[in-house]
Amino acid sequence: MNKIIIAIDGHSSCGKSTLAKQIAQALGYVYVDTGAMYRAVTLFAIRNNLIKNGTPDKEALISSLIDIKLSFELNNDNLPEIVLNGENVEKQIRSMEVSGLVSPVSVISEVRRYLVQQQREIAKNKGVVMDGRDIGTVVFPNAELKIFLTASPEVRAERRYKELIEKGTPASYKDVLANLQERDYIDSNRSDSPLKQADDAVLLDNSNLTREEQFNETMQLVKKVLS
Ligand code: DC
Repeated sequence: MNKIIIAIDGHSSCGKSTLAKQIAQALGYVYVDTGAMYRAVTLFAIRNNLIKNGTPDKEALISSLIDIKLSFELNNDNLPEIVLNGENVEKQIRSMEVSGLVSPVSVISEVRRYLVQQQREIAKNKGVVMDGRDIGTVVFPNAELKIFLTASPEVRAERRYKELIEKGTPASYKDVLANLQERDYIDSNRSDSPLKQADDAVLLDNSNLTREEQFNETMQLVKKVLS
């Protein structure tokens, strides 16, 4: 069967990765979480004092890109986890500290170019479900299926807050809501590759959808493309 590229873009914490993982598993495709790549670069920047008072030291970070080696390894559930210079940092990149600094790091064009090149390399044989902000617009403008996923900020904050608490990560609902609204703003208003719905993307608002309904709707779209 023909393999395709499925691009899932959308706002912060709207369940892109949950959907992307389910679709990848159903099709036997590779799942690529591009947000994890931007988060790992941010973690590297924090650890190496390349962010001062919330502002990345752009020149220093750009010169350090060569020292940032990213890869993915499969966990026991067969799901990819991000590896930064040989260390699995899947858990560390989900902290509120990284969430608070990742958008300013993602604004830097050289960071984007460095990661986009790797994203294209990973998907060169297709059979990939990739989620992010610019996958359908910039990384794969010719992706066979593009989904633009969203939900109301309150619904997203509530889901994200519950997830953090369940994982034992300290968080407050107010901070989570403020963080995702700030990220939405920066991600949608940056000049390089802003978050926006591609003209040919299908809009899916999952505020009132269960995971199963969202999965079924997407699988219908996949089947249509593959038929
Ligand atoms: O998907 P996420 O919330 O883990 O992504 C974290 C941040 O990374 C997001 O706020 C913006 C940035 N990002 C990006 O600029 N482009 C992508 N393709 C994916 C993520």
